Amino acid sequence: MDAAHVENDLVEVLFTEKQIQERLEELARDIERDYDGLDLIVVGVLRGAVMVMADLSRALGRHVEMDWMAVTSYGSGTKSSGVVRILKDLDSDISGRHVLIVDEIIDTGLTLSWLTSNLGSRGPASVEICTLLRKPEALQMPVDVKYVGWDIPNEFVVGYGLDYRERYRNLRDIGTLAPHVYS
Ligand code: PRP
Repeated sequence: MDAAHVENDLVEVLFTEKQIQERLEELARDIERDYDGLDLIVVGVLRGAVMVMADLSRALGRHVEMDWMAVTSYGSGTKSSGVVRILKDLDSDISGRHVLIVDEIIDTGLTLSWLTSNLGSRGPASVEICTLLRKPEALQMPVDVKYVGWDIPNEFVVGYGLDYRERYRNLRDIGTLAPHVYS
């Protein structure tokens, strides 16, 4: 299966690689301004945030430490419970430090709501969120997000870290899946 074939599985491209890079550059300028002179650690939420972390961190013209967390909803089919389990914790101690959580999408808000609270209990100087995408219509839990790439409708999107059954994460663009993929 070649890359062009995979691109054909998209019914619509919502954001091209170029648009994504341009938006991340804009967010990077905001982050540089807001954290000027401050120690900053960015925390990527595995696995979907890998692409955003790679490109956003390289767009930053400043020192930044990168760390990672992996979390999962407790048990299967219980995402709406909002109970989250840590699969991989931070390697770094964040007490007294400025933390920016980086994710590719906020859907119900349950994951980031829990994560913000969890990291906030470790005595950081601050905890903020940067997400490339957010679905306002899907939110079940209020989440205070400092940096948002785009708000999108409540549609299933893939690419640039976002998966459907673990596929399509490696697409350069973000789009909606064609119906033939589901059938
Ligand atoms: C996605 C995304 C967020 C979370 C958002 O991760 O990376 O962490 O879902 O959803 P929520 O707002 O409804 O909590 P996912 O659980 O799909 O894992 P992945 O990053 O490994 O794909």
